[in-house]
Amino acid sequence: MPLCTIYLLSLHTTTPNPIPTFISTLQSTSTKPLIISRVIRWIILPTKLSTSSLLAQNIHWDLLLILPSTAPLPSALQPQIAHQWSITAGIPSRLLQDFPSKNKALLYPDPTSVPKLTGALNDPKIASSAQGLELSPELSSWIQAFNSSGEREGQGAVSMLNLLSFLPDKKADYLQYGAAFAESIGARRGGNAKIVGTVVEVDGVKKEEGDGGWDEIALAHYPSILHFADMLASEDYQEVNQRYRAPSLSDTCILFTSEVGIDGLLGKEVDKDKESKL
Ligand SMILES: *[C@@H]1O[C@H](CO)[C@@H](O)[C@H](O)[C@H]1NC(C)=O
Repeated sequence: MPLCTIYLLSLHTTTPNPIPTFISTLQSTSTKPLIISRVIRWIILPTKLSTSSLLAQNIHWDLLLILPSTAPLPSALQPQIAHQWSITAGIPSRLLQDFPSKNKALLYPDPTSVPKLTGALNDPKIASSAQGLELSPELSSWIQAFNSSGEREGQGAVSMLNLLSFLPDKKADYLQYGAAFAESIGARRGGNAKIVGTVVEVDGVKKEEGDGGWDEIALAHYPSILHFADMLASEDYQEVNQRYRAPSLSDTCILFTSEVGIDGLLGKEVDKDKESKL
């Protein structure tokens, strides 16, 4: 399985227009990321693993990069980076085959191919916290406001970075959840686990079998944040979530990021034709 490196980056705010400047420097190097995505917010916070690196010091993560190698980031980028964290994972080759064109089709779909919302948001299942991948009052109203902002990020495709650590002997349960996600509960809302990988190294430290650390990473695509919310708000999803996903995890986190937000920041009018049809 080819190794990929997932980076979270926090950029120096002293650089004018930090994200566009960073991307323009990146494009002047030979590094060609699979994913460049703007970090928007945490959906689920890690509770045990990597908390001091990911959450402490109030670091605001700006960018998620996924590189198809284990080569370090080009040195030309380092002066713009205030903090970085990385995790390396083996990704099945079939997922990486033809990735840029498959990803473009997910990010800018023919609007007629996007599933309609199921209606679950009209009478949502609400929980007191989003930590179990349920819709909380806070997340629900934040998503409403984010969708209504009129920005591309609030309407377009979203990329959720998931880190997963399984309880001993519980991985089979998570696989049941993954299968249901691909067949029904996720697919029904256009959900797609577009990158999944087995962790081999966390922030420079080699993973040992059974070390209780992060086991897998996944980048899940949804056609919009409302499709994600629709899933969380529904009975069919929560039934499987509570039976298989939640009890299989020793720790997890989900970071909401937007690849279309990066195209927007760069002023790229990707697939004008498709957009004008929206
Ligand atoms: C999401 O935003 C769009 C555009 O602003 C709006 O038409 C739509 O009603 C919003 N949906 C919800 C559920 O708020």
